[in-house]
Amino acid sequence: KSGPYKIPVVVHVIHRGEAVGAGTNISDAQILSQLKVLNDDYRRQNEDASSTDPAFVSVAGSMDIQFVLAKRTPEGFATNGIVRVKGPKSSYTSSDNYTLKSLSYWPSENYLNIWVCNITDYLGYAQFPQSDLPGLDNSSSNALTDGLVISYEACGSIDDGNFNLDPDYNKGRTATHEIGHFFGLRHIWGDENACTGTDYIDDTPNQASQTTYCPQSSISDACSPKVMFQNFMDYTDDACMNLFTAQQVQRMIAVLENSPRRATLL
Ligand code: ARG
Ligand code: ZN
Ligand code: CA
Repeated sequence: KSGPYKIPVVVHVIHRGEAVGAGTNISDAQILSQLKVLNDDYRRQNEDASSTDPAFVSVAGSMDIQFVLAKRTPEGFATNGIVRVKGPKSSYTSSDNYTLKSLSYWPSENYLNIWVCNITDYLGYAQFPQSDLPGLDNSSSNALTDGLVISYEACGSIDDGNFNLDPDYNKGRTATHEIGHFFGLRHIWGDENACTGTDYIDDTPNQASQTTYCPQSSISDACSPKVMFQNFMDYTDDACMNLFTAQQVQRMIAVLENSPRRATLL
């Protein structure tokens, strides 16, 4: 199998009973804007690709992938790929993982499940793939929780009049980042505040720790003369992220073509 990789996506909006387009029950337009961000970011068609630090342009990568909202339900009925369910709670945390996802779930062998809700302890989180690659675990993982959860305040990139996007996370990059994890990428600094931590990727500079906010100029640290804080797998604000590297793309393709509940999406 080779590209273009077409990924069927189902978005489960777990809301509090608001009308469609109000509060946590985000609009179809907001969800469509999220899909556009994913397609732009992964293919490096994002407008701010031109803002990538010139020092890193040569290692920037693009992936021949297309995220499409599902057109058929698991039962074969027509759908727009968006499921709306009134949930039992007004907010959720990552410890609600299984109960949240059991409110609405489509087989993760065939769909990339994205749950959008009022999650309060993270902007989002994803389930890593089963894989032999370094930095991943090949023991069996739960199919029923596979996919990603993102906050309704960080989903999509348009202001549709519902004014609910967090100003630091209003460009849809939370889902870009979480799908990076879903395809096997680790945080660029290696989750350890030392140069021993690694993301198992050679063309991202070794980085001591996470970068937050939006640095206005080049950063050096103890591990490298220039930190790649514009990488989607760092912790900068949405407005400052704009690239994956070629080797990150290679690793995601290896996962997509070989891992359970990834290869079967294709
Ligand atoms: N904190 C989340 C994670 O570790 C997501 C970070 C996303 N960053 C962003 N600028 N949207 O997976
Ligand atoms: Zn992360
Ligand atoms: Ca690296």
